Amino acid sequence: MTNHRKPKKILGIETTCDETAAAVVENGRIVLSNIIASQANLHKQYGGIVPEVASRKHLEVLPLVVDEALEAAGVKIEDIDAIAIAKEPGLPPALSVGYAYASGLANGNQILLIDVNHLEAHISGIWLVRKGEIIKEIPYPFLCLSVSGGHTSLTLVANDQNSKIIGNTLDDAAGEAFDKTARILGLGYPGGPLIDKLSKEGDETRYDFPRPMIHDEGFRFSFSGLKTAVQREVLKLENECEVHKDNTELYDELCRNVTTDVAASFQEAVVDVLIEKTVRAAEQLGINTITMAGGVSANTRLRDKMGRACSEIGYELFYPKLEFCLDNAAMIAARGYEISSEKC
Ligand code: KG4
Ligand code: ZN
Repeated sequence: MTNHRKPKKILGIETTCDETAAAVVENGRIVLSNIIASQANLHKQYGGIVPEVASRKHLEVLPLVVDEALEAAGVKIEDIDAIAIAKEPGLPPALSVGYAYASGLANGNQILLIDVNHLEAHISGIWLVRKGEIIKEIPYPFLCLSVSGGHTSLTLVANDQNSKIIGNTLDDAAGEAFDKTARILGLGYPGGPLIDKLSKEGDETRYDFPRPMIHDEGFRFSFSGLKTAVQREVLKLENECEVHKDNTELYDELCRNVTTDVAASFQEAVVDVLIEKTVRAAEQLGINTITMAGGVSANTRLRDKMGRACSEIGYELFYPKLEFCLDNAAMIAARGYEISSEKC
């Protein structure tokens, strides 16, 4: 395939969930700007994302975020060869705000509009670098573990045009499990980064939480049972601590560092399942390159433990730079570049 007619500079736009983002990416890999306006503080008060609130905020800030992305990249809209828009999946009201804005901008300036799948874009985020950095050489085929707030899947990526999802979650996504567990522990939203940070101080062996479907032959995941187990344990601990609050010795033994240790033990269970299933899938498929994508791939314990598991068996592991793990528009532009037709 020849690349010379692909759009050189792509403006990516992302409004699938609670981040309003725009980025300019050159040749599908080099990030000239990456602007993300997070609504996390806005949704904190509700303990989760409210779609109508998210869409109203997108409407308000998207034009400003796009202008900022162009300015930070040192380009004008006339210099943009294509606009890549995250079309699905996502919160319907949030998606329509982004799509209406992107298509208006593309039509008004006679620019090619490319519809991008948000999940495929997470996988493409693996290639992104800032200007001056070396572009990674990642051999195809590879197996990608995508772990975000809405999705958990294993994808066999043959090349940038062909990929196949071989496993999904049956219920909660990994990120959702982090967010719900954080809520149970009263930590706030989004839960993933908070549990990640807190777990560094915790004892991950203190509570033996289930590792759902870890021995299941297939590539499917399930996390809702784990969340329920955490909920049950927390309720039990709350009762026990109340009953023994006057017995200093027993109280101390039962109730000291409970939140931290529950967080660490929960995180360990998720990480163990993700690693075991991913490595087993790679072995069965005969693929020795693994990549990770999505918000949960920012998790330090997952990165560390998956890294050790891969190096023990001589597999290569790649994950995106931190700024390209969580929802961003540079990955939308990267995927737009890969799927752009050559007629532009
Ligand atoms: O990919 P992403 O930004 O948005 C979706 O497409 O869903 O992922 C967001 C999810 C949230 O559930 C958040 O709690 C989780 O990623 N997350 C983490 C970490 N950072 C973000 N989970 C575990 N550890 C982290 N460090
Ligand atoms: Zn995402």
